[in-house]
Amino acid sequence: MDAYKIFFFLLISCYTIAIVAAQDVTGFVNSIDPNFFKKRQNASHFRFYWQDIVGGDNATSFDIISSIPKYNGTSFFGLVKIIDNPLTLGPQLSSKLVGRAQGIYASTSTTELNFLMIMNFALFEGKYNGSTITILGRNVANNKVREMPIIGGSGVFRFAKGFAEASTYSFDPNTGDATIEYNVYVSHN
Ligand SMILES: *[C@@H]1O[C@H](CO)[C@@H](O)[C@H](O)[C@H]1NC(C)=O
Ligand SMILES: *[C@@H]1O[C@H](CO)[C@@H](O)[C@H](O)[C@H]1NC(C)=O
Ligand SMILES: *[C@@H]1O[C@H](CO)[C@@H](O)[C@H](O)[C@H]1NC(C)=O
Ligand SMILES: *[C@@H]1O[C@H](CO)[C@@H](O)[C@H](O)[C@H]1NC(C)=O
Repeated sequence: MDAYKIFFFLLISCYTIAIVAAQDVTGFVNSIDPNFFKKRQNASHFRFYWQDIVGGDNATSFDIISSIPKYNGTSFFGLVKIIDNPLTLGPQLSSKLVGRAQGIYASTSTTELNFLMIMNFALFEGKYNGSTITILGRNVANNKVREMPIIGGSGVFRFAKGFAEASTYSFDPNTGDATIEYNVYVSHN
């Protein structure tokens, strides 16, 4: 080989070594089989009751930011609550606990009772135990049915898509406690 060819050979080898080394050293990204994202599509409908307990010893729903004074008693604009609400199989609080709704909700309307809901449904039953469904949506409290998107999930709900329909089962104006029926339609792997 003449000097020119040797130089060129060395240049290519170094380049190759540099690429291999970069992959090995960083471990930052690898291609995976695209079928990982479309294995099986399960479709499930869950129904449970979301218990917003605002008063008493066992409250699970607390104001963390109060409403802007001007909207006290009307739309409660600005109010932010944090929740760890029981999800029960039946409408009675004493019925079986099947999960918890953990997250926050906030009044985001100046004119009506309308909440931004951001929450995870952490389920406890059987193969769903430890898996979560994540909801982010708009909840106009006085509408008969409110639809909110499912934006993802974990565990058996990986890659979840779908929606939840909420409707008020009962509301106690004295305590502020509310029981809301949730029908959750979810497709997932
Ligand atoms: C998903 O569907 C498969 C095939 O029908 C089934 O075996 C599996 O239990 C389902 N998984 C869930 C979490 O429902
Ligand atoms: C709180 O929960 C406990 C245990 O379940 C129950 O005995 C008690 O009556 C509840 N208190 C209220 C105010 O609901
Ligand atoms: C609105 O509510 C806040 C928090 O409870 C309270 O501090 C404020 O005085 C109330 N304003 C009016 C106008 O009622
Ligand atoms: C769910 O999983 C947790 C932690 O693994 C376990 O302690 C609990 O008993 C399980 N619950 C049900 C209802 O299987």
